[in-house]
Amino acid sequence: MKTVTTLSELRAARAALAGTVGFVPTMGYLHAGHISLVQLAKRDCTSVIVSIFVNPAQFGPNEDLDAYPRDIPRDLQMLQEAGVDLVWLPTPEVMYPPGFQTWIDLDEITQPLEGGMRPGHFRGVATVVAKLFNAVGPDKAYFGQKDAQQVAVVKRMALDLNFPLDIVVGPTQREADGLALSSRNKYLSEAERAAAPVLQRALQAAQVAYAAGERSAAALRALMQQTIEYEPTARIQYVSCAHPLTLQELDTITEGALLSMAVYFGKTRLIDNVILD
Ligand code: PAJ
Repeated sequence: MKTVTTLSELRAARAALAGTVGFVPTMGYLHAGHISLVQLAKRDCTSVIVSIFVNPAQFGPNEDLDAYPRDIPRDLQMLQEAGVDLVWLPTPEVMYPPGFQTWIDLDEITQPLEGGMRPGHFRGVATVVAKLFNAVGPDKAYFGQKDAQQVAVVKRMALDLNFPLDIVVGPTQREADGLALSSRNKYLSEAERAAAPVLQRALQAAQVAYAAGERSAAALRALMQQTIEYEPTARIQYVSCAHPLTLQELDTITEGALLSMAVYFGKTRLIDNVILD
């Protein structure tokens, strides 16, 4: 496995890779969710490139940029064991050269849900992902369903900017008790960790109601909210039943609807979602 930092090193190493290239962008502090995307890329492509870059532009002023967990030696070991060919670790100066002023802004799709709660977040995500795509030039790029709005934004951006690649979405990987894997789970206290699986239980309760014929979005939102409120440490930021592409809230649920939520456990903000089928 080769590790590179500068753009010229990346280009030389990329050019030396044979066949099709799968790309998994990450912010590091890797877990089995990231590795599942690497495995999908290995299944589909001849070579796999992973980037690790904690992107300052997607963190708000009151968010956890400085505290964001980092462990590059451990990440590199996990990627080596997973059979990755090339790891790109750009510095902030590579991604945002001095005087940087070129941003990618998407319209309606970034207004609701995560975009509503985290102004500027998707501007940072879309910009860095476009720059990573430009530099890496992959055939396929892999994203987790865990970040459902990110998937919708990246797909829209790739289409709008004519990126010649496929976006592949991998399923959310979970702990045995249902908590979605996330780098932020390590911030949870023991009591918060014990409460956090309520998010998946709320999604499952809504899925069961949908399977039994419930088609009112308000009813499914209320059901998820009640389930989460059962845990006294949980503070709901939003609970949503939205159209999977536009992310607009629905009145009547149709197949493929996106159920999602953001909930605080203490200071830690967790998200989870499921697509109804
Ligand atoms: P990061 O949070 O490191 O996640 C990298 C990729 O792993 C994303 O596509 C994310 O959806 C996926 N992922 C995270 N947890 C997962 C889980 N439990 N199961 C499956 N996939 C999971 O998302 C980002 O970084 C950044 O926004 C990035 C796209 C790298 C741009 O900076």
